[in-house]
Amino acid sequence: MNFKAIAEKYGTPLYVYDFDYFHERFLELRKAFRGNKLLIAYAVKSNSNLSVINKFSQLDGGADCVSIGEVKRALKAGVEKYRIIFSGVGKSDSEIREALELDILFINLESEAEMLRVEQVAKELNKQARISVRVNPNIDPQTHPYISTGLHENKFGVDIDTAKRIYLYAKRSEFLKPVGLHFHIGSQLTKLAPIRDSAEKISNLLRHLKALEIDIKFFDIGGGIGVQYRDEVTISPKDYAEAILSVINGLDVTIILEPGRFLVANGGYFLTSVLYEKKNGNKRFVIIDGAMNDLLRPSLYGAFHDIEFVNNSSETSSADIVGPICESGDFIAKNRETPIDVKSGDLLVVKSAGAYGFSMSSNYNTRGRVAEIALENGNDRLIRARETFEDLIALEEKYLIK
Ligand code: LLP
Repeated sequence: MNFKAIAEKYGTPLYVYDFDYFHERFLELRKAFRGNKLLIAYAVKSNSNLSVINKFSQLDGGADCVSIGEVKRALKAGVEKYRIIFSGVGKSDSEIREALELDILFINLESEAEMLRVEQVAKELNKQARISVRVNPNIDPQTHPYISTGLHENKFGVDIDTAKRIYLYAKRSEFLKPVGLHFHIGSQLTKLAPIRDSAEKISNLLRHLKALEIDIKFFDIGGGIGVQYRDEVTISPKDYAEAILSVINGLDVTIILEPGRFLVANGGYFLTSVLYEKKNGNKRFVIIDGAMNDLLRPSLYGAFHDIEFVNNSSETSSADIVGPICESGDFIAKNRETPIDVKSGDLLVVKSAGAYGFSMSSNYNTRGRVAEIALENGNDRLIRARETFEDLIALEEKYLIK
């Protein structure tokens, strides 16, 4: 890929997405589940750009959303409403109302209290709300604690006994219709066993519900398949599918997957340029134009992102690659072997930045969010313009207290 030409054309910092890669990953996952009823509901939070969502919707993908904003993004991007699901631990009344009015596939409940709210809102609208319950299987996903969600100590979902109570209540309610069962134990999963064990636990619940004549049509196994950032050994789609299919063997359900990272992480690149280099004592710093507000993962999780130094020699020494933000935690890499000859203007390509990169970016330090570019069939296209100073102050200017 000619990153240099793209950086020259659009400037840095910049996100670049390889849409051909997104396409391949989607097909790879679908192929692994061939012959089964399947909905791949792309986790919009991982990369919410409308064109990215649209890319998956053109492949008949759905959308896994965690706010009404994401639901509306998915609709705007062309996702069919019957392929949209709405999860999240704290949905407000107005979000529930809009979701019901928009008539999406189902709302994923995360507590008994929320079920009662959904029932109440459905009653007010005189509608029947299609629901699913997110069950917390209390299984350790063996991933970073910040992105583990499947233990009782995590805030997500309900335990199995609570889930049973919710389904029994919903079955009797005029305004609730249980259609799905959901679990998601965490993100960046590289071990299959916790996924298989969770699927087994939850599929037993599914059998129990079917025996109670609660007709669960959708078995939603969440997202979470890990990717390679450095040297992780990842789960193959084939092994993933085999594990799930062996567990649900014989159950007549549509399987829903909610992949985010698997589809987009390694098709995304964050392009940034060197501004300066300096030494504080013996410590070497390379200062770049990208920062933690653009790519938060290294600062927030200590995440590793491989960096390609486009213009430089192979002789290296250790350096911290840091941004201009006024925080010591503002770095893209620490103690990274860095070419000794970097100079102002040199291009760095930060890899594996397609998931939770732009979507977690902010305007901290009044930095405009960067532009996003799609590469497809050898063509590059702008899919989000760089934010200007005027964009950043637009919602304050008119209210300015002088
Ligand atoms: N479904 C549910 C219910 C989720 O909570 C998530 C992610 C996904 C699907 C998609 O997971 P994926 O396939 O992308 O692993 N910001 C963190 C990741 C947070 C994940 C939150 N939930 C990071 O940068 O690593």
